[in-house]
Amino acid sequence: MKVRPLLRALRDSAYLDGIDVGVYLDVVREQYPQLYAELDFGRDGAQQALKALAQVFNEFETDDRRNGRGDSYRRAQQHIAVRMTGIRKLFELAGGVQDLRDLSPTWRALDLLAGDGLLTRALRVLAPQVRDGVISSDIARTMVTAALTAGLPAIRQDARFLFMRAATMDAVILAYGSHHVPPDDRTTVFLEAARVLRPGGRFVVHDFEEGSPSARWFSEAVHRHSVAGHPYRHFTAGELRRGLGAAGLRGIRVHRVYDPFVMRAATREDAVGQLADYLRDMYGLRGLDRCDETRESVRARVWQLCEECFRFGPEDGGADHGDAWLRSPAVQRVGGQWIAEIPRVALVGVGEK
Ligand SMILES: C[S@@+](CC[C@H](N)C(=O)[O-])C[C@H]1O[C@@H](n2cnc3c(N)ncnc32)[C@H](O)[C@@H]1O
Repeated sequence: MKVRPLLRALRDSAYLDGIDVGVYLDVVREQYPQLYAELDFGRDGAQQALKALAQVFNEFETDDRRNGRGDSYRRAQQHIAVRMTGIRKLFELAGGVQDLRDLSPTWRALDLLAGDGLLTRALRVLAPQVRDGVISSDIARTMVTAALTAGLPAIRQDARFLFMRAATMDAVILAYGSHHVPPDDRTTVFLEAARVLRPGGRFVVHDFEEGSPSARWFSEAVHRHSVAGHPYRHFTAGELRRGLGAAGLRGIRVHRVYDPFVMRAATREDAVGQLADYLRDMYGLRGLDRCDETRESVRARVWQLCEECFRFGPEDGGADHGDAWLRSPAVQRVGGQWIAEIPRVALVGVGEK
C-alpha cells in the first residue's frame, strides 16, 4: 500500500472503534435506510471535519484514558428510569405534544449529545410507536459504538459540523451536556441544528442556569471530585433566547423544567445507596475513593454533597409547583417501595424553524 492511501485508511479507521466510514455507511445502509438517506458525508468541509474528528478523544471515551469517565458513565445509564421525568418533558417540547403517544410513528429527531443513546432508549419506552425515530449523535467513538451495538441508529459527528442533509429532522435536541460546547462555538451548533430541521421543526436546548443550585452541583461537587474536573460555563435564559434567535428560529420560549434524579428500591438504604452509586459513576467522582473509604462512606459523602448543593428556594423556579417539585433531596416510602429523589431544575429553550 502506498503511503497516502495507508495514511487515509489509518485516519478513517479512527471513525469508530475498528470501523472506518465506509464500513459504517454499509451498516447504516443495511440497518437504517432512512438514516442513510439523511446522511451527507460529501458536503463541503466534511473531509476536514472527519480529519478533526479522528484526533478527538474526550473524557467520555473510556475510564482507562487519563481523566476518562466513559465506562462508568455508560454503567450508570443502564438505570434508564433515573432521569425519565426530565427526558419525557424534553420530548414533549420537541414534539409539540402533551402526550407522547400523540407523536407520529414517522417522527424524526436528532439527539446531538446522545452518549450511548439514553434518550433513544427512553423514547422506546415512552412512545414505542416511534421505534427508530431518534438518532443518537455523539463525538465520542465508544459512545456511538455502544449505541450501534445496542441496536440504535447512531452517528459519530461533532455537533458543530453535522454529516447530515438540510431539512431532514422534525426535531433536534441538545441536552445533558450543552455546557460542554465552548461558549464561542454555541452559535455554530445552533446554526447546524437549524440547518437540519424541516420547516416547522423544533430545536430544544437543555442545560442548567448559571449560578443556580443545579449548576452549583457541577462547580462545587463535580469539579472538585471528578477525574475530569468540570470547568464548563452553563447558560443564562438570555443567552438561550439570543442563540435561538441568531439561528433564525421563531416562537422562542425558555422554560424551567423539573428534571430530578429518582431511584426506586425495596429498602431506604438501597434507594439512597444506588442513587449515590449512579452519581459517582455518571460524574466520575473517583476523587472520593480514598484508600481508607468504604463503599458506605463514599455513598454517604455523595448524598451529603447532594444535600449541600441541591437546595432550591422560591427564586429558583419551583414556587408555582407546590409539592410537585422537591426543594431538597428526600427519601420517601410510596406503596411498597422507597424512592430517593434529588431535585434539579433545568433551563430549556425551544425555537421553531
Ligand atoms: C453528559 S453526556 C450526555 C449523554 C446522554 N445524553 C445522557 O444524557 O446520558 C455529554 C455527551 O456529549 C458529547 N459531546 C461533547 N461535546 C460534543 C460535541 N462537540 N459534539 C458532539 N458530542 C459532544 C460527549 O461525548 C458526551 O457523550
